[in-house]
Amino acid sequence: MLKKYRCVITTSNNPSREAVLQAKTLSQSLGIPYLNRRHVGEKLRNGLIEFFYVVDNNLQLSILVGGQRLFFHPGIAKIRMENFKRDGRDYLLEALKPESNDVVYDATFGLGMDAIFIAYFVSKVVGTEVSEHIYNVVSYGLKHYVAKKDWINSAIQKIELYNDDMRTFVSRQGNKSFDIVYCDPMFENPKYESSALNPLRPLASYDTVDDQLISEFVRIARKRVVIKTLEKDSLLDRLKTPFNRIIKSPKSGLVFACIELADKGC
Ligand SMILES: C[S@@+](CC[C@H](N)C(=O)[O-])C[C@H]1O[C@@H](n2cnc3c(N)ncnc32)[C@H](O)[C@@H]1O
Repeated sequence: MLKKYRCVITTSNNPSREAVLQAKTLSQSLGIPYLNRRHVGEKLRNGLIEFFYVVDNNLQLSILVGGQRLFFHPGIAKIRMENFKRDGRDYLLEALKPESNDVVYDATFGLGMDAIFIAYFVSKVVGTEVSEHIYNVVSYGLKHYVAKKDWINSAIQKIELYNDDMRTFVSRQGNKSFDIVYCDPMFENPKYESSALNPLRPLASYDTVDDQLISEFVRIARKRVVIKTLEKDSLLDRLKTPFNRIIKSPKSGLVFACIELADKGC
């Protein structure tokens, strides 16, 4: 069960008229109270709110939580693409083996860093993110962000994101609805240093994956199911599900555990 937070929507200091208008519009559509920025510090100090949304003068939306700023930025996908073009390899791509007509389900969307990169290689990515606040910031970013790189803009166009729990979402999907199902739950032993996910942690759900959920993933997938974890985490030890392909990054300790459905031979 996700915690219900107390929060407000505000602007940066010295806001433009457009920023105030956008913050008030979002307040209405998201059902989160608007508060003049002058009063936000006091509410925080008195414990009346736990964090706040900010619409800045560039009309970007972020959340200030626990001294960190949670915002949508496809920068990591850009670096991924540069590394892939330079090195010719990427562990996520080796696990997913995406093809241009594939429709991929990304069960744990987060900031969409993986999804944007994947979307470049496929026809569509459908994502679910259960945290309402992460969803609000990321879906706003997907709608409004204009990247300098065209490939990022067209990848974003291929993404469909829902504020939903993956368990509920999969239960409503028919057999073989997606080519590939990808799930990247929060790690048990995350690397805090330099992780782009740090601002997401206070608001994220720490729901994990069990055999029953994986059997649902298998039911809705045509080609493969891929679960991402860390070598030092216990997720794979806890699961009885047999994985028939494991890809490990020795440098980062990342593990992609794959269930091959169409091509059992690899
Ligand atoms: C490790 S992050 C995913 C990062 C993502 N792959 C990216 O590239 O940005 C895990 C995300 O899954 C979300 N999550 C956890 N349990 C979920 C559930 N049951 N349904 C949907 N999303 C969930 C968390 O709130 C968090 O945002």
